[in-house]
Amino acid sequence: MRIAVMTSGGDAPGMNAAIRGVVRCAAYEDIEVFGIERGYKGLINNELQLMSKRSVSGIIQRGGTMLMTARCPEFTEYEYRRQAAEVLSARGIDGLVVIGGDGSFTGMCCLYEEFGIKCVGIPGTIDNDLAYTDFTLGFDTAVNTVVSAINNLRDTMSSHERVVVVQVMGRACGDIALYAGVAGGAEVILVPEHSVDFDEVAKRLTTNKKAGKKSAIVMLAEGACPVDTVIQELKQRTELAVKSTVLGYIQRGGVPTMADRVLASRLAAHAVDLLQQGVGGRVVGIRNNQIIDEDIREALAMPRRVDEQLYKLAGILSM
Ligand code: ADP
Ligand code: F6P
Repeated sequence: MRIAVMTSGGDAPGMNAAIRGVVRCAAYEDIEVFGIERGYKGLINNELQLMSKRSVSGIIQRGGTMLMTARCPEFTEYEYRRQAAEVLSARGIDGLVVIGGDGSFTGMCCLYEEFGIKCVGIPGTIDNDLAYTDFTLGFDTAVNTVVSAINNLRDTMSSHERVVVVQVMGRACGDIALYAGVAGGAEVILVPEHSVDFDEVAKRLTTNKKAGKKSAIVMLAEGACPVDTVIQELKQRTELAVKSTVLGYIQRGGVPTMADRVLASRLAAHAVDLLQQGVGGRVVGIRNNQIIDEDIREALAMPRRVDEQLYKLAGILSM
């Protein structure tokens, strides 16, 4: 048997651990693995290389992706997908593992439905925006990076008695802001899943200040509202000294945590298992600490919900 693996869309810490997991679990079962460079772009351009147990040595501890990643808008067109399917068939490849987010999974779904290519998806994105799985690869590392940044900000904000608005990634998903906010003791967490009430935010920060709090962290998910809007609205309503920090791409790199490395290894093993059984059109994930798989279409159709209990708890803890 012969399979291929690629990383696609935004990179995430833990992708390398997943590539290693796919290659080594496949080698254990005598399955040949080709690595596709630069996601769907590389597949169309026939950028494949045979991988071995040794070619994935020394990567488990590294962020980014050794196969590189790319965005490939052409893949939304049938003609380019047909070319990609031909590349796989010319190489005698029976199965494909795609490590990426919902966009990459949509492309993979097309390959499966239009050309019958057996595909399995591994969720790799820091955003944690895939509803069918409790966690995606890279989320834990990204949240820890944000928490570390909050720790630094807390020091200087307390010395100067300031408020800081910290903008984090996540697209339309507020999980990075929510989890980092809870772990970093943020006073306010603004997520796209809840409308922003600036009167309430201003009241909370002013009350905290009167109660003796020396600083405040406002965690802002990028999908909630622009950082400048938060600054303006707070300046209009309070006398507080408000600063801002946009963390940006620093969140997408870095040494993957134990949680991301172990999750990557478990997901990779299950993906290879499915392909070996001749099963395709599935995505693997984790629910209640059990590795699961789900039909790709059903997984993509599931509505994403924020953890309301955690959101409520964050409000209680931030007084
Ligand atoms: P992510 O996988 O992290 O969500 P993107 O949304 O950028 O990242 O998607 C990655 C790639 O997946 C795109 O560049 C494109 O090649 C492919 N893709 C995204 N949406 C579609 C689609 N509707 N049809 C086919 N391919 C798609
Ligand atoms: O990978 C997801 C993500 O990090 C989002 O949180 C962010 O909005 C986006 O990618 C930005 O990535 P790029 O600039 O590479 O498109």
